Amino acid sequence: MESRISGVRHMCALTLLLVSVCPLCCRASWMWLGVTSAGVPEQRGCANLPMSPRQRELCRKKSFLLPSIQDGARLAVAECQSQFRHERWNCSTSQDRAVFGYELTSGTKETAFIYAVMAAGLVHAVTRSCSQGNMTECGCDSRLRGGRGSPAEGWHWGGCSDHIQYGTWFSRRFIDGGVKNTSTTRGGYTPVTMNQHNSEAGRQAIDSTMSTDCRCHGVSGSCAVKTCWRTMAAFERVGVYLKERYERSVQVWDRSRRKTRRKDQRRVSVDKHQLVFINKSPNYCVEDRRRGVAGTRGRRCNRTSTGPDGCNLLCCGRGYNTHVVRHVQRCECKFVWCCFVRCRRCESMNDMHTCK
Ligand SMILES: *[C@@H]1O[C@H](CO)[C@@H](O)[C@H](O)[C@H]1NC(C)=O
Ligand SMILES: *[C@@H]1O[C@H](CO)[C@@H](O)[C@H](O)[C@H]1NC(C)=O
Ligand SMILES: *[C@@H]1O[C@H](CO)[C@@H](O)[C@H](O)[C@H]1NC(C)=O
Ligand SMILES: *[C@@H]1O[C@H](CO)[C@@H](O)[C@H](O)[C@H]1NC(C)=O
Repeated sequence: MESRISGVRHMCALTLLLVSVCPLCCRASWMWLGVTSAGVPEQRGCANLPMSPRQRELCRKKSFLLPSIQDGARLAVAECQSQFRHERWNCSTSQDRAVFGYELTSGTKETAFIYAVMAAGLVHAVTRSCSQGNMTECGCDSRLRGGRGSPAEGWHWGGCSDHIQYGTWFSRRFIDGGVKNTSTTRGGYTPVTMNQHNSEAGRQAIDSTMSTDCRCHGVSGSCAVKTCWRTMAAFERVGVYLKERYERSVQVWDRSRRKTRRKDQRRVSVDKHQLVFINKSPNYCVEDRRRGVAGTRGRRCNRTSTGPDGCNLLCCGRGYNTHVVRHVQRCECKFVWCCFVRCRRCESMNDMHTCK
């Protein structure tokens, strides 16, 4: 692994010489922290992690955030795989630096989702750490603490409101070097500004899914006093939100590739909550090693489902194989006085379908 990392460094240095920015290879490879074991980043230290020079510098300055960076990356990878578990592209990752492989640089809506969910994961993890009081640089949202709330409606701010500003700031700095405004619709997008836009959309998703929680105090829950605080949604909710954005993502014009827009590429106006992509996705049906597409052969499908996990859609009409699998379970459990539970072993035969 060490040689691989130094390989990355070489590649990066070379690219730096050539283009003066290190583009897709190193930009995104911090995502590797999402597929490696907990504790590994701290053992290695910022200097030996696959990051761009700018990220390494920030990592060194704020090394207390390293566990949160990894938490965020792991959270995001897990959420991506959960949201896409029934789809043809299932967000599979590898343990090496490539992480998401081809999808990281393909400029498709899958790339868009990856960037959004990773940036959101970073905001979420850093903010959670702030709220737990683990940081000296951030804490709860002090503007709300002790604020008046709405006495007329009988509540006031209290407890710890999640302060997402610090996490959002850090996610911007770390992933995109601090760019805020990427609304470049007029001039089209480049792969880099596409990723920046989608990262920002991911951060906005954290903001948009925040809610207010309240607790009642008073004699036997009479709710004479009610305190409320702002809280981030569980990350699963953010994943659902971003998956919906993915379904409705917008194709934009790739400025870096064509001098002039094609006629069919109408100027679309994009807001900061939308995900954008510049390249159409492959159908992910058949294996294509060159593009890192695994294909759906051998994937388990559901014969009766009409959703994306249904055999028809998942197997792309190629049909499926049926296997009978034996399933052994504890069953007919009885409580025996005193004190144990006695069960029988029950066997059942279930059909399992996999794509041809
Ligand atoms: C995705 O599907 C492939 C088979 O095409 C399978 O090997 C892999 O484990 C799946 N990944 C996830 C994260 O479910
Ligand atoms: C905060 O610190 C406590 C104790 O050191 C630790 O158990 C917890 O995991 C930390 N939380 C985060 C989000 O880093
Ligand atoms: C971003 O830039 C666009 C045009 O360049 C401008 O219309 C918009 O107000 C800016 N947004 C922010 C948040 O600065
Ligand atoms: C298959 O799909 C049907 C209909 O959506 C669902 O009720 C069932 O639980 C699914 N079976 C499995 C094994 O996921």
